[in-house]
Amino acid sequence: MAPTNEFSGLVNVRQQLSNKTELLNEASRKRLWSENDAGVRLLNPHIQDMDQDVLYHLNLGTGTHDLQQMFGDVKFVAMGGTPQRMHSFAEFMIREMGHQLPTGTCLQDISAKSYRYAMYKVGPVLSISHGMGIPSASILLHEIIKLLYHAKVKDPIIFRIGTCGGIGLPPGTVVVTEEALDGLCRPVLDTAILGRVVSRPAILDKALAQSVADCSDPEDNYKTVLGKTISTDDFYEGQGRLDGAICEYTEEDKMNFLRQVTEKGVVNMEMEASVFAALTHLAGIKSAVVCVTLLDRLNGDQISTPKSELTAWQERPQQIVSRYILRHLSLAERQGPTMGRMVRTNSALFQGSQSTFEDTIEEH
Ligand code: URA
Repeated sequence: MAPTNEFSGLVNVRQQLSNKTELLNEASRKRLWSENDAGVRLLNPHIQDMDQDVLYHLNLGTGTHDLQQMFGDVKFVAMGGTPQRMHSFAEFMIREMGHQLPTGTCLQDISAKSYRYAMYKVGPVLSISHGMGIPSASILLHEIIKLLYHAKVKDPIIFRIGTCGGIGLPPGTVVVTEEALDGLCRPVLDTAILGRVVSRPAILDKALAQSVADCSDPEDNYKTVLGKTISTDDFYEGQGRLDGAICEYTEEDKMNFLRQVTEKGVVNMEMEASVFAALTHLAGIKSAVVCVTLLDRLNGDQISTPKSELTAWQERPQQIVSRYILRHLSLAERQGPTMGRMVRTNSALFQGSQSTFEDTIEEH
């Protein structure tokens, strides 16, 4: 056994104290989160120690792009499943805002070379596709939250404009989510991280949801309602459909489930609201989820409405969200930058824009 005296004990305590102080200093130096002056929060102390942050799936990065110059004026981010829908939302916003694109310029998919998500910018509005389901939306949300952080965007609002299955609502109804639930009807997002399940609260801003719902107009030929939304991991069994490749329950089981959730205030099911609620809440960003119902699940599972009608319905969440955005933008913000600034922004946009993707197609 090592000899001990009264001093060796003291030395040990000193050593422990000094280790502890070092740990505390380290913890306070590396705060649990990084927060930009404008309040977008990254719950990740590692980012501030990185030389550069590559936003791989957006084909952007802090080392290759001046993100503050390109995106510093963003106030609203709208996300939806498909590139086509988000292109049409960007065009819709150009018209609604009376936004002037300088002569000879047109909408560009900023992330085209990522071959993953599509991103359009119309003045202070970003319109981005998030793909299908929680994993795809989660990847995009991580990168968009970091983008807003690096660009020092102040108090942004993120919307999801999408489609869903309604429960007890006429098809074509717009639902603004007041609470996002998972497939077990809990207001949480479960994520497997380092071999364990981390449950995060899925919290949406209730006042924002109400203000968005208040953007409906008595003249609209559809209803806009507030209600709870179940986000599932799957379109078929996850949503209790009877028409998937596999189905091990009866129609009665399905109907019982739909009736039970209706009693809890659930009015629709889709596949992304919970991840929006959880990740934006952790980032200190307000968000809202606005979806149009493509069918009433009490009456069936298949989406058989003609394409032209579905396309018209998909514009309804866009209308509601655009009204909210227009109410919160000044005339100058709607109409867009002066030519000089636009030219600078465009050149920054394309500088180094092929640096972070692996499957470049050579143009001849
Ligand atoms: N999107 C969904 O997730 N479910 C539906 O039933 C329709 C659209």
